[in-house]
Amino acid sequence: TDRYAVFGNPISHSKSPAIHQAFAQACQQDMRYEAICAPLDDFKGAVEAFILQGGKGLNVTVPFKEEAWLLANVRSPRAELAGAINTLYLNDAQQLCGDNTDGIGLVRDICINHHYSISKKRVLVLGAGGAVRGVLQPILEQSPSEVVIANRTVSKADALVTLFDTLGDVRASAFEALEGEFDLIINGTAASLQGELPPLPSGLVVGNTWCYDMMYGAGITPFNQWAKTQGAAQQLDGLGMLVEQAAEAFSIWRGVRPATDAVIRTIRNQLL
Ligand code: ATR
Repeated sequence: TDRYAVFGNPISHSKSPAIHQAFAQACQQDMRYEAICAPLDDFKGAVEAFILQGGKGLNVTVPFKEEAWLLANVRSPRAELAGAINTLYLNDAQQLCGDNTDGIGLVRDICINHHYSISKKRVLVLGAGGAVRGVLQPILEQSPSEVVIANRTVSKADALVTLFDTLGDVRASAFEALEGEFDLIINGTAASLQGELPPLPSGLVVGNTWCYDMMYGAGITPFNQWAKTQGAAQQLDGLGMLVEQAAEAFSIWRGVRPATDAVIRTIRNQLL
């Protein structure tokens, strides 16, 4: 039985064990997947101990994704640019390799699960922290007409523009300065965690605008409630992204891609 785990702190509410166990069963993989609460001051030691015990791969969540990026000996190109790693594994040469599957998870949820094409769309991304940095490359690879990054601290949005502007038409804005209609608005701020909403002007959402909150919860998120009130065509939360990033990690480790639809439904029902 191959061992995998998710490392975070805190970790007790993680849905990753349930998701990966469901994948393993569906794909008939002989593996175990557990949740490990790593000490805040010794993530490296916890990872090394797990690998010494035979751990084949691990997921990394808050607050260790940047530390994982530093720890990896080899980084995928998308992890390199994301500045954060959520998936670690050993390659055949026993090097610790890191990838970031969050962005591809978001894009697959939007484009495949919900049949929405980002190509040529005007996209607004709210937030400029680690979560947003982790998803910009996969979004830009879908060839949107423009990506506007809006953040409370505009200098952080400017820094992301500098990092990503070779990949497409990206610009930074303050929330208050946002203008025009958007086809797709993605919330990557941590505001929802406090039940808050960025100060967004009206007029951004029109009848065919899709909204996506990278957060999720038992009920509708504050951002998605805002989207609904503004008359958006669709408001999605980040549960599909969570399951899709897991599926991508699973396929890196096991070489098989699990189906995600049934797992998304199961986890959704457990939330309610
Ligand atoms: P994460 O890993 O979740 O991205 P982070 O790197 O700390 O965490 O970034 C948090 C993001 O949420 C930032 O864009 C932050 O805005 P600032 O850069 O101005 O701090 C944003 N954020 C957090 N609380 C917010 C709030 N109440 N309103 C608006 N934006 C908020």
